[in-house]
Order: sequence, then structure tokens, then C-alpha cells
Amino acid sequence: EKEGYEHFMIKEIHEQPKGVSETLLRRLDTDENIVLDGIKLTKEDLENINKVYIVACGTAYHAGLVGRYAIEKFAKIPVEVDVASEFRYRDPFVDDKTLFIAVSQSGETLDTLAALREAKRKGARILSIVNVVGSSVARESDDVFYTWAGPEIAVASTKAYTTQLVAMYLVALHMSSVKGTLTKDQYDGIIKELKTMPEKVKNILDNHTRIQHLADGQFNNESVFFMGRGLDVHVAHEGSLKLKEISYINSFAIAAGELKHGTIALIEDGTLVVALATQDRLYDKMLSNIQEVRARGAFVVGVAKEGNKEIEKTADVVLYVPDTMDELTPILSVIPLQLLAYYIAVARGCDVDKPKNLAKSVTVE
Ligand code: F6R
Repeated sequence: EKEGYEHFMIKEIHEQPKGVSETLLRRLDTDENIVLDGIKLTKEDLENINKVYIVACGTAYHAGLVGRYAIEKFAKIPVEVDVASEFRYRDPFVDDKTLFIAVSQSGETLDTLAALREAKRKGARILSIVNVVGSSVARESDDVFYTWAGPEIAVASTKAYTTQLVAMYLVALHMSSVKGTLTKDQYDGIIKELKTMPEKVKNILDNHTRIQHLADGQFNNESVFFMGRGLDVHVAHEGSLKLKEISYINSFAIAAGELKHGTIALIEDGTLVVALATQDRLYDKMLSNIQEVRARGAFVVGVAKEGNKEIEKTADVVLYVPDTMDELTPILSVIPLQLLAYYIAVARGCDVDKPKNLAKSVTVE
């Protein structure tokens, strides 16, 4: 059932154009309105909501961080994001004006489920973004937005993440259209761009051999840093999690602006730094951060949008993703990071689909 692929993970990475497209197209009618069948959230409901909580674990939490950006920017509602194991024990302020969004591939993650029950007890309206139909999280929610990633077998989540991003954008856009926070042109522009995502993801996948070669030269690193600004920092966290869980390399991610506040002390000759620089507004700032780490000997792999060539002067290697609007880049920029993690793990001889100490769905605390 790996259909010729060596591992489920790489098969699932390649299934992303399909997952993204299904998740998107099943929710758009012929006039490009978002149809959230079975998801009520009417104008009255949304008028009553003054706060959104997005709660999840691991990769789903990283999708939630992008969701916060989209909902705040498109729908102008304040959003907090929390990991489920923290949310459930900290007595968060939740009431009947709160919309609680649980994000979960399996729908069975114990902490996420417990957080959902806690929010429900406090009167929140519960919307979940779930991949597995009929799972516990789905059953206990008021509304469910199903992602259409299809079954995800590899422990490391890939296609669930990109479909969760699409779901987050659609929820944010739906809220914006009910609330009237975007102009028709803005709304149409985002939908139009979202529809190009499957093709753009495919384009990155078609060029995977460069990343494979890069991985073959970099798999011996003892530690890897990921950095970015704005939305890129959330993708940096996801790329770092992917790498550490399947390759066992000590990796972590920081907001590039935080470098000087401590982490730069760890950069030495040959340290691998993956620097995401896809946000136009923050591009120059990222170029300076890249210079800072290079000056201390780092080997920098930059991730940038096609056309932004200045980065070639500062980074050692640049992985390009197709051009798109800043708000939607996570769907694209995560792809080279997934591929990099995968090929590094393969080069290290790791059991990619079943990393040690990890289970696909965490139904215990
Ligand atoms: C990482 C990974 C985990 C899950 C997390 C939540 O690749 O798969 O971090 O994202 O355990 O799982 P779900 O989404 O099933 O609640």
C-alpha cells in the first residue's frame, strides 16, 4: 500500500496536492462561496463571539498558530493558541462568548479531548478541525470541519498539517465574510490564490532532488536551528519538529528577532541554520539575521519565494517556493522542510515511519 514509495511518510508528502485540493474544493461552491455544511456559525453566533481559542498538540498546534494569524487578520477576532496539555490545567478564561477550535488529525489525542471538555463545561462553542471521521473529538464538538487528507499512517504528520492549514484559512475567510471584515476583492483574491496551492505544492515536490542532495551533505549535523519571522516562525517550528522526531537530531526553532537575546551564542563553525524568508515585509530583516549567523560560521539554507534573489548573496543554499501572497506561504514553505527532514532521516538510516518512542496517536497523558 506504499504504492512504490519507500516509506509512508514520503508517499503522504506527495499526496499533499490532492489533500489540499480536496479540502479546499469540497468547501467551495460554484460562486466561490465557502460552504461549511453542517457548520452553523451564523452571523448571530459570530456576533456573540468575542474571542477564539485554538487548542491542539504538536503539529496540529503549529497549524493553530497559522490559524491565529489568519483569523485575526481576515476576521478581526482576537485569538489565543495553546497546547492542550497546558490549556486544560491552567484555568483559562473561557465563557459562552468563546469559540473553542480543537485541531487534531486523529481526533483521539487525550489532552486535546480533555481541553475540549473543559472548554465545553465553561460554555464555549466547540468547532473542531479533524481528519478522522467519527473520532472522539469530532463526536464531542458542536461543529466539525473535516480535513480531506485521507488516512495518515506515518507517525510524522505531513498531509494532515497542510490540510489543517487550508481548513484554518477557510474558517477565517468564512468568519470574515459573515462579519464583513474583508472587501469582496480581498476575499476573492485570497480564494483565487488558495486554488493555485495544489499546483504550487506539486511544483516543489517535482523538484525534490535538490533537497535530497542537500540532505546527503548535511545529515551528520549534531544540531540544526530553524528561524523565521512572522508566519515563517510557525513553519520553522513545524520543520524543526519534523526533523527531530524522525532523525533524532537536536533541532529547535526561534523567532529570528530573538537571536541576539541568547541563541546566537550557540552558533559556531558549520552549524546548520535553516532560515525562512518568505514574508515580503520582513525580508530585509531576515537577510540581516542570516548575515549575523553566517558571520559566526553557520551554513545557511534559506527558504524564499521565487524571484527574491538577494538572499543568494547571504545564504549558502536557497530553496525556492513559488510566489504567493504572504498570508498563504506556510502551505508551500513547509514542503521543503518536510522533504529535508525525510531525506536527512533516510540518510541517517532511521526508521522513518516508526520513530522510536513515538506513537501515531497519543491517547494517554
Ligand atoms: C508530529 C505529530 C504529532 C501530532 C500530535 C497531535 O509529526 O504527528 O505532533 O501532531 O500528536 O496529534 P493529533 O493531530 O492526532 O491530535
